[in-house]
Amino acid sequence: MTPLTTEKLSPTVGVQVIGADCERLLSDATMPGWCLDALEANGVLLFRDLHIDDPAQVAFSSRLGRLEMLGHGEHPEIFVVTLDPAKNRAAAYLRGTFDWHIDGMTEDIPIMASLLSARAVAETGGETEFASAYAAYDDLSGDEKERFADVRVVHTFEAAQRLSNPDPSPDELAMWRRRAPKVHPLVWTHVSGRRSLVLSATASHVEGMDLEASRAFLGELLIRATAPERVYRHTWQVGDLVIWDNRGVLHRACPYRADSSREMHRTTLYGDEPIR
Ligand SMILES: [Fe+2]
Repeated sequence: MTPLTTEKLSPTVGVQVIGADCERLLSDATMPGWCLDALEANGVLLFRDLHIDDPAQVAFSSRLGRLEMLGHGEHPEIFVVTLDPAKNRAAAYLRGTFDWHIDGMTEDIPIMASLLSARAVAETGGETEFASAYAAYDDLSGDEKERFADVRVVHTFEAAQRLSNPDPSPDELAMWRRRAPKVHPLVWTHVSGRRSLVLSATASHVEGMDLEASRAFLGELLIRATAPERVYRHTWQVGDLVIWDNRGVLHRACPYRADSSREMHRTTLYGDEPIR
């Protein structure tokens, strides 16, 4: 079998995988290990013109790890990403994905990775942007690395939702607050030994720091981590499959019209590593 090759998509995050088709993703015994290693090394893997269908996406994703069941259709492993409430009951919450975030920050263990396949793309907007949280840490000065070692950040669902809905109704607020806050260290020392910065729209404030100072501090770090030269912006084509490592990559969707036909099918791999 021809060896798989990769081409860099940006200096710090993402590669395109050349030489894999659906058949190979499902049958090549070396594929899962190769993909997981490439994901750890590069943060984002892009497969162009794959045109994977739901059964194949579920089968391939299952080779990489254990799948969350977030969908409602024939394949509960598939979550349909769309702003159309007829296709996804949680469509309104997806506006929260327009801000930089890491998925699952209010859970005990964030998800490991997600796979997103493009079934219909937006006429304008709707790109997905990625930035390396490892590079964000590596880029800190020695002094900052020392000062940030013990910083702990409170994450709430409310903080993320407020960015896109700053004036919620009492019902919305009550619903947001049903999800308990979660405290994570700012610096994640992974089992691998690598370190990353845990920055996300869910970051409400730093423990022991007031809200305004927290916002300024976290906001500045986010601006540095997601400076344009550190970002890979993926412009979707129908048939694309993208995998990203949720543990070491920040992501966000670029806004698109609420009546857009954009439709992504997502599978999600459970994580097994708490943030510490
Ligand atoms: Fe997300």
